[in-house]
Amino acid sequence: MPFYQRRGDVPRKRHIVFRENGRLLTEEVMGLEGFTGNESILYHLESPCRVKELGAFTPLEREEWVPETHAHRRMNTHDVSAEGDEISGRRTLMWNWDVEISLCRPASSMDYFFRNGEGDEVIFVHEGTGTLETTFGDVSYKEGDYIVVPRGTTYRFVPEGAQRYLVFETPGLIEIPRRYRNQYGQILEGAPYYHRDIHPPAELKTHREKGEFLVRVRVRGGIQEYVLDYHPFDVVGWDGYLYPWSFSIHDFEPITGRIHQPPPSHQTFQGPNFVICSFCPRHLDSDPEAVPIPYHHSNLQSEEMIYYVSGNFGSRKGISVGSITLHPSGLPHGPAPGLAEKALGVRETTELAVMCDTFRPLKLSTFARDLDDGHYALSWYEPPSEEPDLAGVTSHL
Ligand SMILES: [Fe+2]
Repeated sequence: MPFYQRRGDVPRKRHIVFRENGRLLTEEVMGLEGFTGNESILYHLESPCRVKELGAFTPLEREEWVPETHAHRRMNTHDVSAEGDEISGRRTLMWNWDVEISLCRPASSMDYFFRNGEGDEVIFVHEGTGTLETTFGDVSYKEGDYIVVPRGTTYRFVPEGAQRYLVFETPGLIEIPRRYRNQYGQILEGAPYYHRDIHPPAELKTHREKGEFLVRVRVRGGIQEYVLDYHPFDVVGWDGYLYPWSFSIHDFEPITGRIHQPPPSHQTFQGPNFVICSFCPRHLDSDPEAVPIPYHHSNLQSEEMIYYVSGNFGSRKGISVGSITLHPSGLPHGPAPGLAEKALGVRETTELAVMCDTFRPLKLSTFARDLDDGHYALSWYEPPSEEPDLAGVTSHL
């Protein structure tokens, strides 16, 4: 999506004869929005339609939890057991028509290929390193990376070490915020990241193996299995604007000010009716009279989900690595009692957190129910602590 890329061999023009060792290659235009959106053109050894066997279709089932009360919630995901693989181990926490948010702590590694046929994905790598092998080439990843995978990309995780991801899936498009780009698509001065921070697939590897290859495709709310008799990464070349890429949260350059900067200054991606933001270690507000933590706010049209990655979240009891807070729409929220006074003069934060704000209500899963501590909604009722705990100031509570 971010800019034009080319890997491997492509012919001098589109839609002309292109052979390898005398064999006509199969051209595939993979594009969005009916040939008017971004696209890439891939050249395959085999027809991408070639299927040896149709496997089973398994509906994706979500168990919804409808709480008895509308309230702020806090969950801790850190100690959830490892389960499934990098795809089957995705456990949905919350969702609406625009985005699904899942936690994934795989116990095993996938022995098949996967393609999301109905949505773009952002996979935030909380723990682990490895390679996302894709039709377009390898995307290596490490802790702190967001991996952006456009729909239609066939891929497979090759992990190294224990893995933990926060996964966003959307039927819409994941994009760099429009206000960060000029009319030609170049990322502007003043944006918190630049093209150099975006990492497309490395060198293309063309697989020519024959055999049996299982591909699982998410379509129509389920997983359809296909068996191919050739390796699905049979591309000898591609070019275009559509491909997977990675961006490290550690390359997000925080925007700070003399007084408090609002949450949109942390925006990293945009989707339909939602945003994904990165809260990174940074200097806090510099004015001597600044209150360097958020003002209370009533997010009347937003649901705010924050996932705490690392750092010190001393502004809240019960917030630790892997915690999630959910501030649903219609209610005010803000810092813990007494914190605004204590925070005066604090000049930096070490927090690292990922936030997703949705503009339509989120449903909760029974998985989220099991992680909900049930006490957070009353935490503003507590008297101010006498202990001057300023170990860390969470910027957005
Ligand atoms: Fe907030």
